[in-house]
Amino acid sequence: MKQKILVWDIPTRLFHWLLVLSFAGAFLTAESERYRDVHVLLGYTFGGLIAFRLLWGFIGTRYARFSSFRFGWSDIRAYLASLLTRRPRHYLGHNPAGSLAIYLLLGLGVLTAITGYATYNDYGGWLEELHEGVANAMLAVVVVHIAGVIVSSLMHGENLVRSMINGRKQGEPQEGIRFGHAWLGALLLAAVLGFWVAYPQARDLAATGVASASAHTERGHNHRD
Ligand code: HEM
Ligand code: HEM
Repeated sequence: MKQKILVWDIPTRLFHWLLVLSFAGAFLTAESERYRDVHVLLGYTFGGLIAFRLLWGFIGTRYARFSSFRFGWSDIRAYLASLLTRRPRHYLGHNPAGSLAIYLLLGLGVLTAITGYATYNDYGGWLEELHEGVANAMLAVVVVHIAGVIVSSLMHGENLVRSMINGRKQGEPQEGIRFGHAWLGALLLAAVLGFWVAYPQARDLAATGVASASAHTERGHNHRD
């Protein structure tokens, strides 16, 4: 008999909503010099979250593993075609069309973080254009992703957003995952919060170090003059 079962573990859900937060925050602060530090902080958070998710895709719980949502073009076509029928194909984990969006989001996410890092470290002016371009491409996929979530939710009569919050879907008891891995969720949250506290301090310290070192050299020069 079908009942509410656990499908998404806690680290996967936390990853998702922290990713949404850091992506939105990075986007809103991207244009202004004034918020550059916040942009970079959220950008690194975003990059770290993606790195975590790539790892969790190999060692995580059943539906979080990439192997559980590895579909080909024919699966995607068949799924989309089934949406037009009265009985659309249902998947407990990610559906084939959603999976394509997820791989695109993760791939573009990696590129956004790498090009952002390269821009920040002045590896070349053209990288800034590339960084902005990939971030905008990712925004386009996000829009399609959200539309897909809404369409799928309506077609299947299930609230996918609520499932990404409480981790539960309707299914056979033996199909659910056994553990939510709350400890890993707590660790992930602590890592993000810890980074938000430690990174600005480390950056300020490095900046004062550089400033006092250059003041020192200045003084040295003056002395010789
Ligand atoms: C490691 C992570 C990141 C770092 C270090 C970083 C760094 C930077 C820097 C230094 C710039 C300014 C370029 C300039 O005007 O001189 C920039 C611009 C930009 N970043 Fe990021 N970024 C990161 C992640 C992200 C993410 C995750 C997004 C997506 C939301 C994003 C979106 C943008 C956009 C759209 C611009 C262009 C702003 C404009 O029009 O000037 N960045 N980033
Ligand atoms: C910055 C914006 C967003 C990004 C980068 C993003 C990215 C992702 C990723 C990577 C996944 C895969 C989750 C996993 O297995 O780890 C996912 C799934 C999901 N996202 Fe988003 N997302 C964004 C915004 C949203 C928003 C605003 C909503 C709510 C309306 C949403 C709802 C969902 C849902 C319901 C799933 C699970 C889909 C399913 O049941 O197969 N996402 N998203």
